[in-house]
Amino acid sequence: MQQHNEHALKKGDRLQGKVALVSGIGSGIGKGCALMFARQGATVVGTDLNAEAARKTVSEAALEGLTLHFSEAVDLTNEQQVNALINGVVKEHGSLHILLNAAATAVFKWIEDLDYAEWQLTLRAELDSVFLVCKAAWPHLKASGAGSIINFASANAYMALDGSPALAHCAGKGGVLALTRQLAMEGGPFQLRANTISPGLIVTGATAPVIEQPGFLDAVMAKNMLKRLGQPEDIAWCAVYLASDEASFVTGADFSVDAGAIAW
Ligand SMILES: NC(=O)c1ccc[n+]([C@@H]2O[C@H](COP(=O)([O-])OP(=O)(O)OC[C@H]3O[C@@H](n4cnc5c(N)ncnc54)[C@H](O)[C@@H]3O)[C@@H](O)[C@H]2O)c1
Repeated sequence: MQQHNEHALKKGDRLQGKVALVSGIGSGIGKGCALMFARQGATVVGTDLNAEAARKTVSEAALEGLTLHFSEAVDLTNEQQVNALINGVVKEHGSLHILLNAAATAVFKWIEDLDYAEWQLTLRAELDSVFLVCKAAWPHLKASGAGSIINFASANAYMALDGSPALAHCAGKGGVLALTRQLAMEGGPFQLRANTISPGLIVTGATAPVIEQPGFLDAVMAKNMLKRLGQPEDIAWCAVYLASDEASFVTGADFSVDAGAIAW
């Protein structure tokens, strides 16, 4: 793993000249992708609801000699805040080529315990936020002539994991998978690509406490053909490819980055 991490820290030019907006930079996958995009030469604007966590990521980037742009906390379920964010990015950086929507939260409960408010909260955070950001960014991604949207579905969009009370999350991620295919179709005439990544279990702020629960790790490892836990960098490499011109013939696709978990 150490060699793996050192490789992730290497700098390159695969996203040189591109402006990227990355959500959820305060933690986990969004943070990993924002850092990797910056290492690959993109101008990266990060956003998060948690300003303190986002600023920590900006400081970590600076230690590597990288610049991440972050101004203030934005709630991506708030249409006005989302519109102001996108307008600000384009005003300051002139264009927008890459949109990576990693920010999300979910309530994990069995159907008998999940109330309607928690169901709605999850779908707002996982699905409405993606819609709002894609809609606000769409004209700018279109105008760039080579836009790339990267959304996050999940292994949970395909399978139920024994022991995981993921009802609302499964619905949210199934929704992201389907809406992204539709975006790909609508964006095709403008060379605007839209793809999803479906991670398996990745160690992040969201999953670290769950991994501690008795039996959970065993259930995950029973599904993983590669017997290790995923790291944000495992996802970020896939995101760099999808964001880059290397993937200019790739749209409407879903990439499982999950150690083979859904391939049985
Ligand atoms: N970690 C996994 O195992 C896993 C597996 C499958 C899919 N995913 C998906 O990948 C994405 C990233 O997951 P993660 O594990 O890194 O999550 P995380 O909880 O570690 O990080 C999410 C970040 O998004 C921010 N955020 C949440 N709601 C927001 C909002 N309304 N507005 C702005 N920012 C908000 C949080 O403050 C946090 O910093 C999510 O869409 C998640 O569903 C993760």
